Amino acid sequence: MEVVVDSVTITDNRNGQTIEIPIVDGGVSAEEWSKLLPGIWFYDPAFMTTAAAESSITFVDGDNGILQYRGYPIEQLTQQSSYLEVAYLVLNGELPNAEQLDHWVEEITYHTFIHENMRKRFLEGFHYDAHPMGMLVSAIAALSTFYPEAKEIFDPDIRHKQIVRLIAKMPTLAAAAHRFSVGMPFVYPDNSLSFSSNFLSMMWKTAEPRFDANPILARAMDALFILHADHEQNCSTAAMRVVGSAHVDPYSASAAACAALYGPLHGGANEAVIRMLTEIGSLENVPDFVRSVKEGHGRLQGFGHRVYKNYDPRAKLIRNIAYEVFEVTGKNPLLDIALGLEEVALADEYFISRKLYPNVDFYSGLIYQAMGFPLEMFPVLFAIPRVTGWLAHWVEMLEHNTKIARPRQLFVGSPRRDYVPISKR
Ligand code: CMC
Repeated sequence: MEVVVDSVTITDNRNGQTIEIPIVDGGVSAEEWSKLLPGIWFYDPAFMTTAAAESSITFVDGDNGILQYRGYPIEQLTQQSSYLEVAYLVLNGELPNAEQLDHWVEEITYHTFIHENMRKRFLEGFHYDAHPMGMLVSAIAALSTFYPEAKEIFDPDIRHKQIVRLIAKMPTLAAAAHRFSVGMPFVYPDNSLSFSSNFLSMMWKTAEPRFDANPILARAMDALFILHADHEQNCSTAAMRVVGSAHVDPYSASAAACAALYGPLHGGANEAVIRMLTEIGSLENVPDFVRSVKEGHGRLQGFGHRVYKNYDPRAKLIRNIAYEVFEVTGKNPLLDIALGLEEVALADEYFISRKLYPNVDFYSGLIYQAMGFPLEMFPVLFAIPRVTGWLAHWVEMLEHNTKIARPRQLFVGSPRRDYVPISKR
């Protein structure tokens, strides 16, 4: 019987030398490989085939549409847990017991306020119509100037405190950015409310002494936070790890991650979905729109994923949440177009052969819009919980003693040449 060996053998045809490298956890060590090939680089732009980290936080099986945080299926967490409990799990590796959860919630609640100068001097310094995501990216970076001890990244207590601060202050900064951009006064956190209810209060409160969000909407918000808390080595998390590998403080690294999330190919896609559905306008225009996408005129926003080659499990859950939310808010009129678009695309050879399915962003925007969030707030809503994932990966990276991220390049530019004075060019 043939024995299957879990390794690969590479031969350098220039000199006949070979090296055998074991396949461990689904990967082969490039360090081993490069022993045979010093000075030869692995060409992998966009890291399509590169695992840049060993991680035990989030498991994604893109072919089978599976997502687990620390081993727990996303479906169970979304239905049974809360965002703060999930944040604890993602950061610490285990679900908290009742006492640990109480303490964690208390810690986060205590840190929801931002320094008055952060609001008065910094946030209010933006132009009146500043994009809230631009404000959020800069505000996160600015926090590092308020907490200079954050530079002590190898002190576990100091590190923990910054993690708590960041998770706690994200909703406050996010709501403040929104209120400013629409000319409404800042609403202070109400620490008698839950994490998600408090966020909705800071978003929508006007003159009432206490804002109690509709419990279905608060629960939907919390579930959406759970679904967005982490997604292994996505673009913003990769940015967090790369910038964090230079040993910068967590606020500066999170600002870099947040900047990556601003991009339309990443956290900006849910906004693009609404714009696309609005542009389509009605169900009968769906086939023409799909045809134009196939002819290369733009992309079907909210479709496709680098890892999922199956229905994104988050999209399935979000579609269900959408129906619960619409019971309260009334149906988003764009829903029918979205459902029609999904139906046409999933039956079309172009999308089938490329394994393009709805991703997390396809339905989340419909919910946000029905809840009253302006389009500009969509990436901000993604960023609020994703900070948990960024921080969990940042800690994991520091604990693994990862070296500074510094890729190589294949130089394809001009060979050496002599400077030509401008009069001779
Ligand atoms: N609509 C139409 N065609 C598509 C789409 C789409 N949304 N996505 C991929 N394709 C086609 C693409 O044109 C290519 O076709 P061909 O082989 O003929 O050139 C093929 O599918 C493979 O695409 P790719 O660009 O090589 O795939 P990728 O892994 O580099 O890109 C993606 C992944 C998410 C950037 C891309 O699918 C996309 O642009 N989707 C629309 C934007 C979007 O919904 N982004 C949210 C991603 S999920 C949340 C997050 O990560 O933030």
